[in-house]
Amino acid sequence: MSMSRTGFAEAFDLASAFDAVTDYWSPKVVAQVNDQYMKIAKVKGELAWHSHRDEDELFYILRGHLRMEYEGGRAVELTEGMVHVVPKGVLHNPVASEECWVVLIEAVTTRHTGDVDTPLTRSIEDQLG
Ligand code: NI
Repeated sequence: MSMSRTGFAEAFDLASAFDAVTDYWSPKVVAQVNDQYMKIAKVKGELAWHSHRDEDELFYILRGHLRMEYEGGRAVELTEGMVHVVPKGVLHNPVASEECWVVLIEAVTTRHTGDVDTPLTRSIEDQLG
């Protein structure tokens, strides 16, 4: 599914929107609220250590289990239904041993791999596609 740009109110089923997601770590924008995007992603394995200098990043786990690793060996274990906000400026690395479905809320300016470029980095154009 792709986001409506008509400005006209539409409704969609969030879980069903994941049917269109085929690649891991490739977020798709499903809605915009003011200056924030709601994105969905299927993830498995690990993304990359990165930070977002000026932006917090919200993770909501719809299916599965995600481990958010932080500098210094700290980690937050996120199971289905849990919400976690990664604070701006903090180095983090999301890891999932099995497929996990994640809902993200982040500023439209946020690069999902933050300050680093990796083979998994996706442009915002790709995320809107
Ligand atoms: Ni991040």
